[in-house]
Amino acid sequence: MANLPTHPHIAASVLELIGGTPLVALDRLGAGLPGRVLLKMELANPGGSVKDRAALRCLEDAEQRGDLRPGGTVVELTSGNMGIGLAIACAIKGYRLIAVMSEGNSPERRRVLAAYGAEVILVPQAAGGLPGKVSGEDLALVEERTRELVQERNGWRPDQFRNPSNAAAHEATTGPEVWAQAGSTLGTIWAFAAIVGTGGTFVGVARALKARDPGIRCVAVEPAGAEPIAGRPITRPGHKLQGAGYGEIPPAWDSEVCDGTLAVTDAEAIKAARALAQREGILTGFTGGANVAAALRLAADAPPGTAVTTIASDTGLRYLSTDLFGE
Ligand SMILES: Cc1ncc(COP(=O)(O)O)c(C=O)c1O
Repeated sequence: MANLPTHPHIAASVLELIGGTPLVALDRLGAGLPGRVLLKMELANPGGSVKDRAALRCLEDAEQRGDLRPGGTVVELTSGNMGIGLAIACAIKGYRLIAVMSEGNSPERRRVLAAYGAEVILVPQAAGGLPGKVSGEDLALVEERTRELVQERNGWRPDQFRNPSNAAAHEATTGPEVWAQAGSTLGTIWAFAAIVGTGGTFVGVARALKARDPGIRCVAVEPAGAEPIAGRPITRPGHKLQGAGYGEIPPAWDSEVCDGTLAVTDAEAIKAARALAQREGILTGFTGGANVAAALRLAADAPPGTAVTTIASDTGLRYLSTDLFGE
């Protein structure tokens, strides 16, 4: 492959198509609000989610350190999106991927991983667990199995919850892109809101934005009833916002760049996701809906002429078997 000519309009692989996603104004949903909601279209990444960026950066940093060698095995705990990003990067780079996930995650997620050639290991939910709802308890079981598999298969684990490459990907790419696309002017972006899973997206983007304008309010979005960052007791660990809200402050959390929190209910997230599809033509998932619900609330308080930025975390196609868009 090294001898093939390069051309400015031809990507050498889909890895070059990760990032550089568009920023769209939600001028129909936000009509009449003083602030303008700007949505970063992370669903437009090759794997359909914000996690492609983190997956690629984790692998590339590991290659550089020598932790991951040609033909190696990657093992990761994933609700699907990180796994899909890893599966794409592993397919191109020639690594074997073992994706460990809860049975509570939607079936589309497993099927997509298998389609990219990953080996999917499903971990049964804790007693009383509900399909489509992955609790902290379920996640602890997946964690246990992941650790075993790393040993059994002599694998390298990106460990997205603890790996600094995760937030670094968003600090180096997603955040600066949002800043440049929104107009790169001090004061233009009034606030940034994003839901927290590993915290990589929120922390990375917030660091990049605050480095450029310390006045930008960076607000962490949490599922109502699973709000550890807000310091509240966990009353609803079984919320529907898959991929986020695990009921604990993530290990790589950075409270320095967090100015506050907003809680969003399942119903609000679903309502926003449906409105996004029907009025803005954007099909995103539960967490994208939650982010937009939070951003619309912030935009109501924003000074006129400023922007509130947020993230369409993944594609809504991943949730067609759920109640996100109705039966
Ligand atoms: C659908 C979805 N939304 C949001 C997130 C949260 O992103 P982060 O892990 O960067 O906090 C994830 C993470 O996997 C996800 O899968």
